[in-house]
Amino acid sequence: MSTHHPDRRRLLLGGLSLPVLTACGGGGGSAAPSPAPAAPAPPPPLADVPALKTHFAAHFKFGMAADPSGYRNAIANPVILRHANSITAENCFKPASLGTSPGVYNWATADELVAFAAANGMVVRGHTLCWHSQTPDWFFTGTAAEVRAKLETYVRDVVTRFKGKVACWDVVNECTSDDASSAYRNSRWLQILGPAYIEHALRAARAADPDAKLFINDYGTEDPAKLARLMTIVTDVQARGAPLDGVGHQLHVNTASPTPANVDNALRSVANKGLVNHVTELDVSLYSDPGSCFAPSRTGCAADITGDPTLLAAALKAQALQYRALFNVFKQHASLQSVTTWGIADNSTWLSGFPIARGNRPLLFDTAGAPKPAARAITDDGYAP
Ligand code: G3I
Repeated sequence: MSTHHPDRRRLLLGGLSLPVLTACGGGGGSAAPSPAPAAPAPPPPLADVPALKTHFAAHFKFGMAADPSGYRNAIANPVILRHANSITAENCFKPASLGTSPGVYNWATADELVAFAAANGMVVRGHTLCWHSQTPDWFFTGTAAEVRAKLETYVRDVVTRFKGKVACWDVVNECTSDDASSAYRNSRWLQILGPAYIEHALRAARAADPDAKLFINDYGTEDPAKLARLMTIVTDVQARGAPLDGVGHQLHVNTASPTPANVDNALRSVANKGLVNHVTELDVSLYSDPGSCFAPSRTGCAADITGDPTLLAAALKAQALQYRALFNVFKQHASLQSVTTWGIADNSTWLSGFPIARGNRPLLFDTAGAPKPAARAITDDGYAP
């Protein structure tokens, strides 16, 4: 992926004063040489932005997602240290990372992340305990009673390990169906345990750490139809008397979608249930692909624009406006207590490989860790991207 970026170039060139080069040779005549045309003044450097954790402190915590390999990176490290007071592990808290076999745990990387957070004033969002993806097959073997026991034991052991160190858990991740056939995703959890698996996981988490806040986390809540299915699940969970504190909205969005009104609607719906909102995985892709791009065939995906300075500049402007619109909604919701971007800077993002391998720049900081127009747009109302 190219690292060329107009804002970064401005940042690098903005402080330099280059001598004006004049034509050499000739002369000797009596006429005074005509002055060389003045070079256009370089655009001012894109100023650094305020620390986001401070700028938004009156509204919500500001977090970033990374594993230790991500936040140790030389570009990313100063960015997360300056801007984040919350961290989510991108992968190392998932069952496939922690729970390699029944009762055997691989704590090292997660422990390292928890220590990093404590040393640098960040709370930890635990992601995730119960998911249809990145979960070893051993969870799903045996009778329903055995599968339930394995789920409850896993949740108990992991939450106990991090009791008092992880502020909140995405206890159940992506349990909502993507189509209208059912509210619930047709996962192995659902097939074996029915909808009660959500309640079992929530109760086990609450028992292990009564102070940790417990979330259901999902993508697509900005789609009113999917939101309605999620709210059906929330209503069911509450009717069962299961402990649930909030809903996480992943918000993997793009420059063209969603509308601010749809995000506002999602946050309002959750608050109306007496629950807290978190934005958990925010990024704004440069591409608005058709549905076929996300089908197994991966057809119709937009072409990479990161090598075309004109198209890239236009997309980064649209991205800045989208980020600003979203944050303007976020700031209006007292129930929204945390906003996390899914990554630190554009040098490392899952969207480089999804839905196809392609350059993408979905975050607030560029491939060199410098603030992008989007970062300026959310912190400076007078800035025109
Ligand atoms: O660590 C191995 C490495 O050893 C191996 O060589 C390499 C080869 O593929 O794979 C590496 O693991 C990858 C891992 O990311 C770490 O980079 C996995 O294959 C890959 O599947 C995994 O992808 C993660 C994905 O979840 C898994 O579903 C992404 O990083 C992560 O950003 C993504 O995060 C999810 C959230 O948890 C839930 N919401 C959606 C979000 C984006 O998909």
